[in-house]
Amino acid sequence: MTRNRQRARGRSQRRGADDSAGAGWAGGPPGAPAGPVLRAVGLARVYGEDESAVWAVDGVDLDVPAGQTLAVTGPSGCGKSTLLQLLGGLDLPTEGEVWLGGRRVDDLGERALARLRRRAVGFVFQAYHLMDELTAAENVELPALLAGASPRTARRRAAELLDQVGLADRARHLPSELSGGQRQRVAIARALVNKPLVVLADEPTGNLDSAATQDILRLFDELRAAGQTLVMVTHDERVAATADRIVSLRDGTLADDTLLNTDSGSDSGTTRLGTLLSWED
Ligand SMILES: Nc1ncnc2c1ncn2[C@@H]1O[C@H](COP(=O)(O)OP(=O)(O)O)[C@@H](O)[C@H]1O
Ligand SMILES: [Mg+2]
Repeated sequence: MTRNRQRARGRSQRRGADDSAGAGWAGGPPGAPAGPVLRAVGLARVYGEDESAVWAVDGVDLDVPAGQTLAVTGPSGCGKSTLLQLLGGLDLPTEGEVWLGGRRVDDLGERALARLRRRAVGFVFQAYHLMDELTAAENVELPALLAGASPRTARRRAAELLDQVGLADRARHLPSELSGGQRQRVAIARALVNKPLVVLADEPTGNLDSAATQDILRLFDELRAAGQTLVMVTHDERVAATADRIVSLRDGTLADDTLLNTDSGSDSGTTRLGTLLSWED
């Protein structure tokens, strides 16, 4: 690597930002933001130092318009998961910027970042990551409760979502009593409970057989019809082909960007953002 280490600003320097910067997430931004729902500018993430430094993500510029379903593909180790984690505030970039709903979010303080992850982003993981000791309904309710919803609202919203993912009759089951596909549908319901600006899914069908994969893809299709912005990482070409757009990563950089559905998304997610950011109790 010939990079100058000084190019990479230290995390502590970057993290000096005022915690109150994210205060708007509690009630929505004062003015409706324009532009893409999600934006990465010169995004980079280095693991390790000096000779062992790995630029897992290496200068990614990406705009995701409201309502678009974006598939991120590429070989194992090319930086897909790292990119997704940076986009959702699970990890912080070494360089570059992440903008969500018209706000810069990579320089938020710890508390604001936690609020952001809870309120504005819904994560879906390959291994579901459900809480084993909680029922399906409780798993879906939990992020709503953590975001400040009343128990009643959380219960109602979880019931609605479990119904939407076809699991109304499994609400009181534990994850161990559900199939892989059913667990992933619970995880998707959980990701949606706080009406996130964007759903980020990392190999969401990676553990599933083809029938369960079809169920999940049908669900994503419904989400798209409802205008939900979705970014999913997949190395399954058939899954990627269902997206509106496919970007390919190679060694942490964007190698290809193909729009499959030209009707998808719009650059003015403005009205939608305003509604999504407000929490109705
Ligand atoms: N926590 C970590 N520490 C060090 N290196 C990591 C870490 N996570 C990922 N990497 C490295 O970063 C690169 C990208 O990894 P990852 O984003 O997981 O790729 P993908 O999801 O495309 O398989 C790989 O070379 C991987 O070994
Ligand atoms: Mg990965």
